[in-house]
Amino acid sequence: MIEAKNVEFRYPDGTRALDGITFSAGRGEFIGILGGNGCGKTTLLKVLNGLLKPIRGEICLDHENIRSMSRDRLFTRVCTMFQNPDDQLFSPTVREDIAFGPKNMNLAKDEVDRRVSSALSSVGMAESADKPINALSYGQKKRACLAGVLAMRPEVILLDEPTASLDPMGTSSIMHLLKDLNTKGGVTMVMTTHSVDLVPLFIDRAIILNRGRIVKEGSPAEVFADAPALRAANLRLTQIGHLFEILKKKDFIDIENAPLTIGEARREIKELLK
Ligand SMILES: Nc1ncnc2c1ncn2[C@@H]1O[C@H](COP(=O)(O)OP(=O)(O)OP(=O)(O)O)[C@@H](O)[C@H]1O
Ligand SMILES: [Mg+2]
Repeated sequence: MIEAKNVEFRYPDGTRALDGITFSAGRGEFIGILGGNGCGKTTLLKVLNGLLKPIRGEICLDHENIRSMSRDRLFTRVCTMFQNPDDQLFSPTVREDIAFGPKNMNLAKDEVDRRVSSALSSVGMAESADKPINALSYGQKKRACLAGVLAMRPEVILLDEPTASLDPMGTSSIMHLLKDLNTKGGVTMVMTTHSVDLVPLFIDRAIILNRGRIVKEGSPAEVFADAPALRAANLRLTQIGHLFEILKKKDFIDIENAPLTIGEARREIKELLK
């Protein structure tokens, strides 16, 4: 669905932020981009949505180079929830901000209103519809950004640390909402995150970046099986994975496939107690 082919990107000051990135996200896939601060995650999303132009390589959407697409067409098909909500929100009120995209698509007023209401309730912000943007908390701004993306009903959603600053219940409900859109609506998701515990719960395939390069790619089980690569990229195992790593190394408890989630750990513990 969306594909990066040997993409290289350099900022004007000479920083080489992406250095030969090749990967693709199939239709309806949920991809996680992981890596430490400054490894190139945000740059990669900005290259995928056409905001930054690579100096080498290309980005294709459904096999078509995005360079040959109009900005409007690209921005309705691929929508991004930015890392910093202040880069995204610019209208006086929440409702106006969320309506901006759908209005630009020339949708009828009724349809715009329907999309805005539905997006606001999906992110738990229905009661804040008429608040000024500058009166929102940081977490509420993040939710408003996501509502703006949802109202566009795009084919691909790029999410730059969508759950950073959300409360624990908010994180869970937003992740379930994204997963539902992904599995039931077939929306392709590419999400950056530092929250490694979310990865095995929601993500189909994880990509680890280090200094602008892909250093590991695979299912959560494959990626988390390589603890040294994770740590070299300033990441860590999930909390449950770490517990079972200690049980294996220090307490010599024999576990073949280390669990990564509470559900997997529960099954493993019941097995061990038999
Ligand atoms: N406008 C810019 N000008 C010059 N260098 C930049 C610019 N924006 C980012 N960089 C550099 O590019 C590299 C990648 O930055 P990027 O923001 O993509 O990292 P990131 O993985 O998203 O980090 P974080 O986890 O902190 O969000 C870093 O070395 C950063 O300093
Ligand atoms: Mg970033």
